[in-house]
Amino acid sequence: MKKALITGITGQDGSYLSEFLIGKGYEVHGIIRRSSVDFRERIAHLEGHRHFHLHYGDMGDTLSIIQVVGKVQPDEIYNLAAQSHVQVSFDSPEYTANVDATGVLRILEAVRQCGLEQHCRIYQASTSELYGRVEEVPQNEDTPFHPYSPYAVAKLYGYWIVKEYREAYHMFCCNGILFNHESERRGETFVTRKITLAAARIRQGRQEKLYLGNLSSLRDWGYAKDYVECMWLILQHDKPEDFVIATGQQHTVREFCERAFHYAGLKLRWEGEGADEKGICEAVDDTTACGHLVGKTLVEVSPDFYRPTDVVNLLGDPAKAQRLLGWNPEKTSFDQLVKLMVENDMAKIASDDAAARVRCNLAEYLEKGIVK
Ligand code: NAP
Ligand code: GDD
Repeated sequence: MKKALITGITGQDGSYLSEFLIGKGYEVHGIIRRSSVDFRERIAHLEGHRHFHLHYGDMGDTLSIIQVVGKVQPDEIYNLAAQSHVQVSFDSPEYTANVDATGVLRILEAVRQCGLEQHCRIYQASTSELYGRVEEVPQNEDTPFHPYSPYAVAKLYGYWIVKEYREAYHMFCCNGILFNHESERRGETFVTRKITLAAARIRQGRQEKLYLGNLSSLRDWGYAKDYVECMWLILQHDKPEDFVIATGQQHTVREFCERAFHYAGLKLRWEGEGADEKGICEAVDDTTACGHLVGKTLVEVSPDFYRPTDVVNLLGDPAKAQRLLGWNPEKTSFDQLVKLMVENDMAKIASDDAAARVRCNLAEYLEKGIVK
């Protein structure tokens, strides 16, 4: 039985990768951080599985990383842990560098210190943010990098240190240069999930308006579940190489918004430009339930969500992954992705409401002495 160690196992990708590797017959180990509140929502269903094990550690803490690597003796490491929010990296650049840059070095060195360098294969979660202020469109493995945020600069170090250890010590370590990938488990402050949650809340009368930043930003959005398969394929390849993983299609934030509101039953039309642009509700699928929304402004721009430097034109060319790994970039379309995220959030908001109503009724019954 092969052993995989996943850093960032509680994150969007870590949770899907865990399910994928367990399905492939792996024993899966993950590094988690201690927290005063429960943060394991995405992997709760895996806890207790006999091939799923968690270890405390932190990417900023060299000793804990060496200890876990030495104890687990993994065949494969997937280094997914990161301060992964680009906007946050402007507020916490040093922390981001420690985790996203030096953290990668800690993993590589831990493997060497434990004498596993000729045995253990390592996947590094590199990113399309490396292309930053893009120098060509579409971007492939040979496109020059121009990182455009503290996050991207930290990830650039990660990218190069992986290449360095491959060349210097002949280690099997690879970069997956993944373009944006989203899902029902996407963190709630990334733009796609922020939009799908807001569309569901607005449709169900739980939110009035959605405030966004740059609506014209272009992204190549794929489905996270499809992308974790590629991480595994990269480590099964006969030689260590770096790969771009993308769909080859791009859309603006505005288009994502339009489709998400459409699947929530609300038709948007756009008026104005730049910071004055607004998304107005033109029609609804059910006038009884939400007819009052027609004519209302549901989306507005807030400069609070502008970034000091923003990456605005990402489009990946996945030809190498298609050719050498047999990966299919068209498995889940843009429309399917938006639809499945909105359907998930429509159900989530409805069930949160139902749970809140039960709590409310219970409080009232307790107060009136109806239940004890
Ligand atoms: P995510 O949902 O934000 O998950 C990040 C994970 O890293 C979480 O498990 C988090 O743990 C962990 N982490 C953060 N700081 C840590 C630290 N100091 N020590 C240990 N663990 C730490 O990110 P994701 O979307 O799954 O992305 C996975 C990786 O791929 C990241 O490296 C990201 O930069 C990269 N990437 C993502 C995309 C994308 O579109 N999703 C594209 C390209 C590259 P907590 O739960 O404790 O916070
Ligand atoms: N988060 C956010 N919130 N972004 C917004 C908003 C908003 O309200 N309004 C517009 N945007 C724009 C951002 O300016 C950016 O151009 C784009 O939407 C996407 O932003 P995010 O969803 O935050 O993702 P990201 O592209 O910055 O970073 C994600 O993808 C990278 C791969 O390219 C993260 O997952 C990174 O970890 C990953 O490396």
